[in-house]
Amino acid sequence: MSQARRRQRFQDVPAREPPPPPPPTTTTTPSVAVTPTHTIIERIDALFWRNSKNKKFTVAVLGAAGGIGQTLSLLLKQSPRIESLRLYDIAPITPGIAVDLSHINTESEVAGYVGPDQLRNALVGCDLVIIPAGIPRKPGMSRDDLFKINAGIVRDLTIGVAKYCPNALLNIISNPVNSTVPIAVEVLKKYNAFDPRKVLGVTKLDVMRAVTFVHGLRKDELQRLRSSVSDVTVPVVGGHAGETIIPLLSQMMPKLSKPFEGSELQNLTTRIQNAGTEVVDAKAGSGSATLSMALAAENMATSCLKGLAGESNVIECAYVSSNVIPELPFFASKVMLGVNGVEKVLELGTMTSFEERMIKNAIPDLRASIEKGVAFARSS
Ligand code: NAI
Repeated sequence: MSQARRRQRFQDVPAREPPPPPPPTTTTTPSVAVTPTHTIIERIDALFWRNSKNKKFTVAVLGAAGGIGQTLSLLLKQSPRIESLRLYDIAPITPGIAVDLSHINTESEVAGYVGPDQLRNALVGCDLVIIPAGIPRKPGMSRDDLFKINAGIVRDLTIGVAKYCPNALLNIISNPVNSTVPIAVEVLKKYNAFDPRKVLGVTKLDVMRAVTFVHGLRKDELQRLRSSVSDVTVPVVGGHAGETIIPLLSQMMPKLSKPFEGSELQNLTTRIQNAGTEVVDAKAGSGSATLSMALAAENMATSCLKGLAGESNVIECAYVSSNVIPELPFFASKVMLGVNGVEKVLELGTMTSFEERMIKNAIPDLRASIEKGVAFARSS
């Protein structure tokens, strides 16, 4: 047979199906374990903590059935620093959320509490109380538009804190933070339970946004510096509404070869200040930031617990009682956290004239928000 004919015949033969793979072999070895369920936070820093004899804490989330509250509770359930997690809300679903979370195989216990009658049980013995209760913004609303409803919610919940766990740290998320923190402080003063180290307005989301946006603009250089997005830091000071949100981009770390300036600096600053509105508009009437806020709040809570446990060099930005700006009793700054809460409010450091101007311009707005909160708490 000619070679060409042989090749032709070979091509006519249909390709043979590969044999099916053999069935998985079975083994009777009992010592091979299923991969343990792992949680995000455990992966980050907690194996050490879980095995150590460090103190573990009791934490309450007030407003736990909401968009922020549920996700925050999920994140906190994964924290090996927490032994008891209390979920409180006025929504009847709350005990169900607690049961749901209780099936996660982490060490902490979870319990749900509904309505003012159960607030006491939710709070007694707490080391840290986080408040995301209240209504969120809709498109076209400013944070101050939330005041009418959220002011009363924060007041009532803080009365609970003053009565049932006066030594707890308080992380206030409910907006307008620039006013709700002064409200909480006035309530605590009324009940003789005020310690300026213990009340913190949560502004961590502004820091997260600043870092994310800066990284987006300088990815190549940061890559050359071997800095990932989680290595970048940008202090954000002032307050938590519009132009009171003041990113100190000149103090970002690592240092860039060419700092932000001109229209790039202006646009970046404006984007950080309006980032909350970006989410509100994109959600088109269904609420404001919940997922990123929950992670920011979990980060803040973890830092507070690290401080309470005596870890050193725990620095965050938060809106706290302060005399950094003599005219303002509250201001967001870098703070050092410790066993009593805010151990030190750090100086603002060297700023550019652009940053100094932003602070000067924010003072009247901040002062008005603070006075509004104080007046509300004193008159109610
Ligand atoms: P949401 O409406 O999804 O949840 C709020 C929860 O609070 C609901 O479950 C509601 O039942 C509960 N609640 C209402 N009154 C209560 C009371 N008296 N006691 C206990 N719980 C009560 O709202 P979302 O999206 O979770 O936002 C919550 C708050 O967080 C809003 O004020 C929002 O403006 C603020 N926020 C703050 C941010 C920050 O950076 N600090 C960022 C994003 C939102």
